[in-house]
Amino acid sequence: MKMVRYVVVCAAILWAVACAPKSEVDRKVDELLGQMTLQEKIGQMNQLSGGAWVAEQARNGMVGSILNCVDPAEINAVQKAAVEESRLGIPVLVSRDVIHGFRTIFPIPLGLAATFDPDIVEQGARISAIEATASGVRWTFSPMLDVARDPRWGRVAEGSGEDPYLDVQMGLAMVRGYQGDDLSDPTAMAACIKHFVGYGAAEGGRDYNSTMISERSLRNTYFPAFKATADAGAATLMTSFNEIDGIPSTGNRWLLKDILRDEWGWDGMVVTDWNSAGEMIAHGFSRDLKHSAEQAVNAGVDMDMMSYGFIQYMEELVKEGKVSETEIDRAVRNILKLKFELGLFENPYVDETLSAQVDYAPEHLAAAKQAAIESAILLQNKGGVLPLDKVRTILVTGPLADAPYEQMGTWAFDGQKEHTVTPLEALRKEYDVIWEPGLKYSRDKDKSSFPKVRAAASRADAALVFVGEEAILSGEAHSLSDICLQGAQSELIAEVAKAGKPVVVVVMAGRPLTIGRDLANCDAMLYSFHPGTMGGPAIADLIKGKAVPSGKSPMTFLHDAGQAPFYYNHNNTGRPCNGTETLLEDIPIAAGQTSLGCTSYYLDTGYGPLFPFGYGLSYTEFEYGKPMIEDADLTEDDVIMASVELRNTGKYEATEVVQLYVRDLVGSVVRPVKELKGFQRVQLAPGESRTVTFALPVSELAFWNIDMEYVVEPGDFTLWIAGDSDSGEPVAFSVK
Ligand code: GLC
Repeated sequence: MKMVRYVVVCAAILWAVACAPKSEVDRKVDELLGQMTLQEKIGQMNQLSGGAWVAEQARNGMVGSILNCVDPAEINAVQKAAVEESRLGIPVLVSRDVIHGFRTIFPIPLGLAATFDPDIVEQGARISAIEATASGVRWTFSPMLDVARDPRWGRVAEGSGEDPYLDVQMGLAMVRGYQGDDLSDPTAMAACIKHFVGYGAAEGGRDYNSTMISERSLRNTYFPAFKATADAGAATLMTSFNEIDGIPSTGNRWLLKDILRDEWGWDGMVVTDWNSAGEMIAHGFSRDLKHSAEQAVNAGVDMDMMSYGFIQYMEELVKEGKVSETEIDRAVRNILKLKFELGLFENPYVDETLSAQVDYAPEHLAAAKQAAIESAILLQNKGGVLPLDKVRTILVTGPLADAPYEQMGTWAFDGQKEHTVTPLEALRKEYDVIWEPGLKYSRDKDKSSFPKVRAAASRADAALVFVGEEAILSGEAHSLSDICLQGAQSELIAEVAKAGKPVVVVVMAGRPLTIGRDLANCDAMLYSFHPGTMGGPAIADLIKGKAVPSGKSPMTFLHDAGQAPFYYNHNNTGRPCNGTETLLEDIPIAAGQTSLGCTSYYLDTGYGPLFPFGYGLSYTEFEYGKPMIEDADLTEDDVIMASVELRNTGKYEATEVVQLYVRDLVGSVVRPVKELKGFQRVQLAPGESRTVTFALPVSELAFWNIDMEYVVEPGDFTLWIAGDSDSGEPVAFSVK
């Protein structure tokens, strides 16, 4: 009887779905799809890089989307060919990598993550969309959601670092900013959550390298931001270059159909990465381009970015029965749905006068400056050297002090360096500046001008040394096996220090570099990643004390690249470091085999990081009380009410990013030693204190367990509320 009832209920549900009134968009898609030839359908699945030269293919209905054209006139020319001169007049979808700004460049995404401020990140994405859509771009390949735990990987610059929770918050903020509330708004830009999935786990931190990620690690670490942004309505998704345990994502049916469509119920559009379908040949997964096209579309890909495999072989594959027209219709339906939702059929063209009105608008530059201020992390400030508010003459030196192109960082295609305001330019408005570059670029090894720099430092009240990375040293395909300051930059810092004046080092980079030895040669260090167009004024305000640093590290800072991958939310191992470890220089001669103890650490660099995840100082001091939990005996349906007394005990008004961490002490699978579960930006005046409260639903403690079920397991937990992942007093609670 039960089975009969079950079948009846299922049948009723299926009937209800089948009869559900189609949305207006779905009706339009069905109507258009019914008029299309197989060739025209395949044409929609083809994305080409270029502008005016693509007009011919658009006229013939052989291209559904273009990328890398941002000239409004060229875009309108291609669009005219598609809309007015092709048989069905289907508009082309114009796309671009708008990753951290279009014309007004914001800090690189890793710097945006360091703000721990979703509001400023959303504002930046909204501004990016306003500027990019004014040039005709309606689809961006952002946010990049790849959790990354290895700073040797150049693409850590483009993501939100090592923590899944921060990744979720930043990804949601960007999708909200890009897409707004209505995709048909002319300033709305379809987001693209990428790279699905696990790309940041490339072995050795070497880009495009293999990844070996278990299903449980995918679900607990790499999926969360994709799931959250997919649920939040991200319009598109991009497959990743990497293979996971031998299966390239672009041909991975489990990922693109079983998880994305069946389990998550996501109905957006899937695009490959650049030729990632064709690269399955190099992977050894596809025999040839035709085979790769068959595998990609049958796995669930809708649009092919630049492999030319779909446009060349899909018709043949359908005729040979290797790809069904049902698959083709599924893909084209997703593409057409997006075009209707963006309003492209009603408004295909861009006003060619618009970009001049919106690019670099004062309010855009102001937002970019604020983001750059909040993204800067104060790593060291011996003796309160900063802010430099009592000195008159400063030396400015170093290859990043006046590098307008480098300051924008990677993936800043459309930022114009002429608009960049450098630190040198901004500091000249605040101080009497002695300018001695010292080195021409970050890899420069020519130390011939060092004596001049040192002499200049002697004449100054303080010295500012701007070091870091040229933009090209991070981003795609730019991995480094050693992540110390390149060239003679460390020597430049040491040379300046010899003058005996206060030394402030400012780092602009695309990753957390191993700057431990440089800390010893300076009084203060401000780490600003690549801060974008307004990095100069932001840094000048921070140096002068007009602004106070609040940034926190979104990735662990290592002593040495050899420690990678290293991340705070690691498992404990069976032999965790216990602080009794013997380091290299302390090992006795002929030491006995087990005399050093047997725990998980390095003989040379020990165990811990240089700076932990979530770390960042202020010009003021913040004092945390012991965290309190209202009710420490909870059930799965409860909300944990945790609070802490925070006091500003220093002399500057400042903002603290208060962080909530939890540890599940025992699980059916081992659990991380800490997991970020919340954060709040709290501004306090000197002497002010405030009770900071977190309301954390117990359901947020769920994880994928031994049975691959997403559950909260009862047991004992520990909670911290602190200023970084390595601080704070623990407090216990339990879940029944
Ligand atoms: C690149 C990147 C991807 C980008 C795409 C288009 O290779 O992997 O992130 O969106 O190609 O430029």
